[in-house]
Amino acid sequence: MKSQDIRKQFLDFFQSKGHLIVPSAPIVLKDDPTLMFNNSGMAQFKEFFLGNATPKSSRIADTQKCLRVSGKHNDLEDVGFDTYHHTMFEMLGNWSFGDYFKKEAINWAWELLTEVYEIPKENLYVSVFEGNEAENVPFDQEAWDIWKELIDEDRIILGNKKDNFWEMGDQGPCGPCSEIHVDLRTDAEKATVSGKSLVNADHPQVVEIWNNVFMEFNRKADGSLEKLPAKHVDTGMGFERLCMALQGKTSNYDTDVFTPLIEKVEEITGLKYTSNEVRDISETQNKTNIAIRVIVDHVRAVAFAIADGQLPSNTGAGYVIRRILRRAIRYGFTFLDTKEPFIYKLVAVLANQMGEFFPEIKSQQNLVTNVIREEEASFLRTLDQGLQLLDKVISDTKGKQVDGAKAFELYDTFGFPIDLTALILRERGFDLDEAGFENAMQVQKTRSRAASEVSTDDWKILVEGNTETFVGYDQTENDVRITRVRKIDSKKEGILYQVVLDNTPFYPEGGGQVGDKGVLVSANEIIEILDTKKENNLILHITKTLPENLEAAFSAKVNTDLRTSTAKNHSATHLMHLALRTVLGTHVEQKGSLVNPNYLRFDFSHFSKVTDEEIKQVEDFVNQRIQQQLPLIERRSIPIQQALEEGAMALFGEKYGDSVRAIKFGESMELCGGIHVENTSNIWYFKIISEGAVAAGIRRIEAITGDAVKDYFAKQENTLAEIKETLKNPQDTTKAVVSLQDENAKLKKQVEQLLKDKAKGMKSELSAQIIEVNGIKFLSAQVDLDANGAKDLAYELGQNQTNLFIVFGTISDEKSMLTCYISKELVAEKNLNAGQVVRELGKYIQGGGGGQAFFATAGGKNVDGMKEALENAIKFI
Ligand code: ALA
Repeated sequence: MKSQDIRKQFLDFFQSKGHLIVPSAPIVLKDDPTLMFNNSGMAQFKEFFLGNATPKSSRIADTQKCLRVSGKHNDLEDVGFDTYHHTMFEMLGNWSFGDYFKKEAINWAWELLTEVYEIPKENLYVSVFEGNEAENVPFDQEAWDIWKELIDEDRIILGNKKDNFWEMGDQGPCGPCSEIHVDLRTDAEKATVSGKSLVNADHPQVVEIWNNVFMEFNRKADGSLEKLPAKHVDTGMGFERLCMALQGKTSNYDTDVFTPLIEKVEEITGLKYTSNEVRDISETQNKTNIAIRVIVDHVRAVAFAIADGQLPSNTGAGYVIRRILRRAIRYGFTFLDTKEPFIYKLVAVLANQMGEFFPEIKSQQNLVTNVIREEEASFLRTLDQGLQLLDKVISDTKGKQVDGAKAFELYDTFGFPIDLTALILRERGFDLDEAGFENAMQVQKTRSRAASEVSTDDWKILVEGNTETFVGYDQTENDVRITRVRKIDSKKEGILYQVVLDNTPFYPEGGGQVGDKGVLVSANEIIEILDTKKENNLILHITKTLPENLEAAFSAKVNTDLRTSTAKNHSATHLMHLALRTVLGTHVEQKGSLVNPNYLRFDFSHFSKVTDEEIKQVEDFVNQRIQQQLPLIERRSIPIQQALEEGAMALFGEKYGDSVRAIKFGESMELCGGIHVENTSNIWYFKIISEGAVAAGIRRIEAITGDAVKDYFAKQENTLAEIKETLKNPQDTTKAVVSLQDENAKLKKQVEQLLKDKAKGMKSELSAQIIEVNGIKFLSAQVDLDANGAKDLAYELGQNQTNLFIVFGTISDEKSMLTCYISKELVAEKNLNAGQVVRELGKYIQGGGGGQAFFATAGGKNVDGMKEALENAIKFI
């Protein structure tokens, strides 16, 4: 059965059991500070388990793109070495939100596996939670009794908290679970060792395929469990493992999920991958296999993350993606001898293979390909530089062991992988001081952990069961009550409080727009709201202090000055988005946006610099729409399908509900939850202030509107006035500047000529000063020339003389410069080196420099040291 059909059968099966089939959420999570990536099917439904929102159906099923590379669930370092772990994998899941529970979940899982997929029952084992006294959670008798009806009791295994109590993170919904394991070994193997003994024992062919979690609890900040308001089911089946089982394979990489990618790598590298059935392979073949598995696995994670809007970068989620890609690059570099970018070529295969079910990978194919290619090229350059630095480290090493701290520096500053360092050292007959490396690594980890430590208290609930309403589209001020508060203590920001209200006019950060600021006012107190954010469907108002009386009546007032400026920038962003698509083409897609009161920043896909002419066209396009005084047409709740049919722009990597809010100004229509001006004329004027590259194929524009433009123009005008005044108020300022530049160029030429003449004059004078020491003609002198003049003079002196050793000192503009010239035969015979001379003499002038063995220069700050430097030159001979 093809993987495509396996996926479809799962979804069809649960649809037939009354489940609503929903698309996978984007791999990168927004609005959830506790999680970087979607690490399980349930992550997008967390708010339903917590009771903060209501799902559109109490039964849902899907296949979810998951990434387990950070936080509680992290498989990254295993990937490639085994045959059944991945960075990105698909999790097939079915959910009950307060609807069915263990009986249906278990029976359906069994029916699907044994009757639809026809996996032989004798290949399956199941596990049940044995209970945990400390947690006060008993043995799961109910699950045991249900399984007993379906499977021999000796195939039911009791599992402990580690294996059979599932938690998404340190806090949040959790519960006992029941896992299903499949034994894919040969009959002969089964006859020798029982499958039961291999369950949960990291055997590559006795693997867990499906986990059924019975969500009943919420793990609180203090580590204790509380009952959730309702009981839920959360299941997750590893799609790639299921394919392995159904396609009769013993490795996920031998299924059709991976073979097309592997074939492409084989084609590019000319190397062969051997399937898991091939035994007794050589050590080299084993390494080739591992590298190929790493690459075909990682390209999926990276490609889908980029398609969902997460570009590789130096921080946060972007850094994780960059590290995954770099891991793939260096496995290729070391074991497949790939010294040129090639991973990007796999994107086309991936798009072909998965594009039908996950359209984002097809529509973003160009961008993904370009970004990966550029990342590869740049990391290969880093590797190249790293190799040179490593050469230097090796040549500076006394003895046979390379300092671990040095290797760490290479790793930390240049991203040079440590295993590569170790490998190269071994090849050259050196050892790595691994303890030293580990030590340096630990020191840094502790430092960064301490800096990012956050402790979150449990909520203090004042009003039960209230769902917060956002009223901020219509009001900026409202009467409110506090429903819950909690304390957050972080190293970075100190102690802050999060306050939730029964209803709120405060816009929470989202869709690129910053959160509102403002105040909470009661009869006796004013509490400042520093920021507003959203988490698990709650709007959190961030404060430095809590009101004394939490139960008082408050008026929540948004700072309208800031909000108005922000709204102008947000509406201008929409107009600019359309302008860019009109001027540059419809390949332009939003890749990032920041809207705050001061300016707007917009990242978008486009493959070349936006020219000055195009910038002007974009500005004109937007300003025309501002002048046309287009009214805001806000459709607060229309079906998404209708909005898309009417031409609304939606973003990839964004999660939309069935009913959406659409914002329209003239021809511009976008799905958007943000705050906008009532009429485009309120924007006043739009001005682009910068344009540049952020990554391969991604440009960034920054622009301003409203008062910021007035300030900008006023500043420009001031600058111009100052220039005019400096130029003594000429009639034509531009002409005056051009003629100044011309004059300057002419004078420069004259000065150069004069200096050359002067140097000639000095030549005879200095020739007389040359003395002979140990058969070397030596001259050390301070000359009244610039660095170029000193160079010319040294070369001229050297033209008719042999065995010459010259050191000149020059001083200009408070800077000192040493120039050293050594005749070629001295370099060869006496082992003299001008680079070394200037480096050592440079110490006297607090400077540094270098060059070649026969000519080098060093510049320095200390003018007073020049005399001493020149006196010491003689020591070299
Ligand atoms: N949430 C459960 C898991 O990821 C199903 O294993």
